Amino acid sequence: MKQYQIAVVVGSLRKESFNRKLASAIAKLAPADFSFRQVGIGDLPLYNQDDDAGPADSVKRLKREIIDSQGLLFVTAEYNRSIPGVLKNAIDHASRPYGQSAWAGKPAGVIGVSVGSTGTSMAQQHLRNVLSYLDVPTLGQPEIFLQAKDGLFDEAGDIGAGSRKFLQNWMDRYVAWVKKHAA
Ligand SMILES: Cc1cc2nc3c(=O)[nH]c(=O)nc-3n(C[C@H](O)[C@H](O)[C@H](O)COP(=O)(O)O)c2cc1C
Repeated sequence: MKQYQIAVVVGSLRKESFNRKLASAIAKLAPADFSFRQVGIGDLPLYNQDDDAGPADSVKRLKREIIDSQGLLFVTAEYNRSIPGVLKNAIDHASRPYGQSAWAGKPAGVIGVSVGSTGTSMAQQHLRNVLSYLDVPTLGQPEIFLQAKDGLFDEAGDIGAGSRKFLQNWMDRYVAWVKKHAA
């Protein structure tokens, strides 16, 4: 059976991040031929085009993990109605040098959770704009805008009963999307 390795990019460095928790929980809804690995972005330097010729080891590692994956999952926080700078920094790093982007063609999903009732919708929309430019085919529907509140996760850290059916449907659609577009 062909295996699909998914590179998961969490748009938050916070230790107790709801988005990191969501990334771990939703991965458990995937079928056995999918495996998910969260890629580290907290050790990346600030992107500087002067470094394109000699990228840091963390940048090379990030690009390798993206290139070796068959799909992408972005699970992002919303900061000031956009994506957190740490996520944009990671995206910029792996998009360069010009013509050597690691992102191009990798099928992606975009989800997120915030404490606000708009559930990262603005951040996701900004992220979709960036991914479109980077030639990343991104699942359009269903959209997932989650608010962090009691019951979203159960005591084991899994998706709570109230959201499970909805998120399982998203995962099923995401799996089909990756299979359709993966190289
Ligand atoms: C700098 C900053 C800006 C924020 N801006 C927004 C925002 O625009 N919309 C929103 O819903 N929540 C906003 N929040 C609250 C986040 O939803 C909340 O901190 C959330 O826990 C972040 O996700 P995380 O738990 O994965 O780190 C902001 C938080 C910070 C620290």
